[in-house]
Amino acid sequence: MAHTIFARKSVADCEADVTHGTGLKRSLTKWHLTALGVGATIGAGIFATTGTAIVGDAARPGAGPAIIFSFLLTAVACGFAALCYAEFAAMVPIAGSAYTYSYAALGELVAWIIGWDLIVEYAVGNIGVAIGWSGHFRELISHLGLNMPAWLSTDYRSAHDAFNAVAAGATDAPTQFLASAWTGAPHLAGLPLIVNLPAALVVFLMTIILVRGVRESANFNNAMVLLKVGIILFFIAVGVFLINPSNWTNPADGGFAPNGFAGVSAAAAIIFFAYIGFDAVSTAAEEAENPARDMPFGIIMSLVICTVLYIILSAVLTGMAPWKQLGTAEPMITALQFANGPAILLNASRFIIALGAVIAMGSVLLVFQMGQPRIFFSMARDGLLPPFMAKVHPRFRTPWVGTIITGTFVATFAAFANIAEVVDLTNIGTLFAFVLVSIGVIILRVREPDRPRPFRVPGAPFTPLISVAACLYLMLQLPTVTWIRFGIWLAVGLVVYFLYGYRNSVLRTGRRVVVDTLP
Ligand code: ALA
Repeated sequence: MAHTIFARKSVADCEADVTHGTGLKRSLTKWHLTALGVGATIGAGIFATTGTAIVGDAARPGAGPAIIFSFLLTAVACGFAALCYAEFAAMVPIAGSAYTYSYAALGELVAWIIGWDLIVEYAVGNIGVAIGWSGHFRELISHLGLNMPAWLSTDYRSAHDAFNAVAAGATDAPTQFLASAWTGAPHLAGLPLIVNLPAALVVFLMTIILVRGVRESANFNNAMVLLKVGIILFFIAVGVFLINPSNWTNPADGGFAPNGFAGVSAAAAIIFFAYIGFDAVSTAAEEAENPARDMPFGIIMSLVICTVLYIILSAVLTGMAPWKQLGTAEPMITALQFANGPAILLNASRFIIALGAVIAMGSVLLVFQMGQPRIFFSMARDGLLPPFMAKVHPRFRTPWVGTIITGTFVATFAAFANIAEVVDLTNIGTLFAFVLVSIGVIILRVREPDRPRPFRVPGAPFTPLISVAACLYLMLQLPTVTWIRFGIWLAVGLVVYFLYGYRNSVLRTGRRVVVDTLP
């Protein structure tokens, strides 16, 4: 069995699959690719999860104002992984994802594990983005005089934690509001009914849009990139005037790095979420004008741009309010609530940030929600998932069954899940995929030393090894419960593989699955 589960798909086969179906035009320059990376990267990570990273939670310490070092640490780890992605992507220059590359490089079992793992990156990640979206949406409509009750816009854990915090004496408005979900919720069979309605609804809306079909257009992406960068710059420009430097160093709050390196590393593993997406550049290899030169540029440049923005933003954020107050899913809004400044400026800024964040996160939702069914599509075409996952709608020409399955899964969990828990799971899954890709680069150098490599990771095998070590280090910072959940997820994946994919794999059985092609 061993040699069959490690059977590899030839690059020529991968290319044939793709060019028959799509035959994409090579029209993206290195700056288009950079924009693609920035567009896929900036989202709920920076807008929503920074709060938990700064303050910490029951399972780990927060970084406090030293969060800027967390962003640096994660960026360095991602940089090494990005170089490995770039070698992979440039060497197998076809549309696809880590799943496609690893099928050619590492064989079927590893490809399956990565494909299964990408569900954690895309679908579970999107649960987090939907929850982050919901918090900003609630803020946005409150400026229009529409106030949603807390029990309809948060989750059990956040409500319960806030309830305990209030019982312990917390008096600030964001905590009081969340606690009101626990005290004010209607009861169903004796249990408080708390459901994040906007998070679920936005995913339903996206699903309908995606079934009917939208094309990811470079113009739309460019507009989103401008908006996202614009919102971050706007926050920095306003926030810089609201900084009270004592917030960075207040001894009563533990100073600049209240939990030392432990806090910085724990936060680094959380804000890794804010960097997920730069690997999306690699999926556009087939459309790059010159993949060998432009892919590495696009991946690394988007990483650099995001890192610089994140570091400046988080320095401003922690200067505006005492860091302990920032542990919400809308930390920028919260900082504006606590900052000292003219009420009209603070209010208007909250509105602008909420509006920008809602649009920005909406675009991340759309892109990830579109990506997941396409990964299912590739896996079904290879016979690793049932053919219905590759069903293309006769009229809309979209992978509608996969899109609806993804939408139902994401919407259901978005209604009840806690953002920190979802983000942890996404991070461990994505980091694991990075580890596999980095190991793959080393294996392939040994196995196929002569295969043309338009881009070579400098310093291999040490650079990929550093990438493996850095990703494992970040994984180790995540709570034990996250490891357990991820272990269960992988185990379920292996069972599915041996029950279905192993028996139906096109590569091993030679039976072609007849599927439609995507336009
Ligand atoms: N990096 C993406 C985000 O922050 C997942 O929303």
